[in-house]
Amino acid sequence: LPTRSIRVLPSEIVLPESYRRMDERECKDLIIEHKKREGGRVVILGHHYQRVEIVRLSDIVGDSLELSRKASQSDAEVVVFCGVAFMAEAAGVLAKQNQTVVHPNPNAGCPLADSAEVDDVETAYEAFSSASDESIIPLVYMNSSSEIKAFAGNRSGAVCTSSNAAAAFRWGLEKGRVMFVPDEHLGRNSIAQLGIPDEKAALWDPKIDNGGIDPKRLRKARVLLWKGDCHVHSRFTVEQVLQAREQNPGARVVVHPECRREVVESADGAGSTSYLVVEANRAEPGSTIVIGTEINLVSRLAEDRPDVNIIPLARSLCPNMYKISLRYLLWTLDGSGSRHVVDVSEKIATGARKALSRMLEIA
Ligand code: 13P
Ligand code: SF4
Repeated sequence: LPTRSIRVLPSEIVLPESYRRMDERECKDLIIEHKKREGGRVVILGHHYQRVEIVRLSDIVGDSLELSRKASQSDAEVVVFCGVAFMAEAAGVLAKQNQTVVHPNPNAGCPLADSAEVDDVETAYEAFSSASDESIIPLVYMNSSSEIKAFAGNRSGAVCTSSNAAAAFRWGLEKGRVMFVPDEHLGRNSIAQLGIPDEKAALWDPKIDNGGIDPKRLRKARVLLWKGDCHVHSRFTVEQVLQAREQNPGARVVVHPECRREVVESADGAGSTSYLVVEANRAEPGSTIVIGTEINLVSRLAEDRPDVNIIPLARSLCPNMYKISLRYLLWTLDGSGSRHVVDVSEKIATGARKALSRMLEIA
């Protein structure tokens, strides 16, 4: 019989059988015991898109910007980062000398972050630079590897998140032309917010020679965008918005800016994960709010506000955020700071730190 080969990624880790067999209730109780025993030595950070049971056990809950800030401000020796790999890496880069950041499941990556490799980004940057004499400011989304952040940091660039992208574009455009990597839709939505026409942007496709851009177009562009998107958000459609309005007259529709430009235009508001949380929290009792973002967040917001009718625009799950379960969290906590340690080389961390600190200054 033919054998099937299975590719094992270097970072691929497998949950031991003893944890796999464990009951969820038992895991939860053991995690609570850990938290009591460790006190302030260990802090658990949970991104808003984590499973509800992880969020409930987290000491700090937030979006990627808040978590990376709070991780570095915490006095804990061990930071357990429940989110995807690039977020844990960013926390590792910003961590204090005596802090260790651990990631419960290193298999939880982000396809958007993985869509930009440093060699390809460099090719685009070189092409954009040689198209004119103006300076090029590399702006990179938090959803990128530490290498990409270091690339930007070493070239006077900055990191941004969905909560400060427009401000970061304004900052970059005051200095020159901006190359934004890797989320096309967040780029388009941010420049639209600044009143910059879409024609001023060119789209670089790393899979095509010369990015698939005509040299004349590249010369004229103020902004170079990268052909990358988040499949969790780019699957929302204008039809879904129209249908939601038809089924829920008077409802407010809000979406994340990783959604396509036309979806953002058809909504009543768009903003970062934290913005969506604030929208749900301040909604009038009895009102209806339709939210276009990751389903775990929308379900939890609905659970927290039973007096408001909170509806998902569509069920869209981030399968990577979902890879962190109570069993993985317990396995990591049992390692007491030595299991799944986030390790970024000092050279990369130094460059990435420059870009992250510029973001914190802009924010
Ligand atoms: P935030 O920056 O809003 O936390 O979003 C991160 C993310 O992965 C969105 O898909
Ligand atoms: Fe990446 Fe999208 Fe998941 Fe965010 S929601 S972590 S961008 S795949």
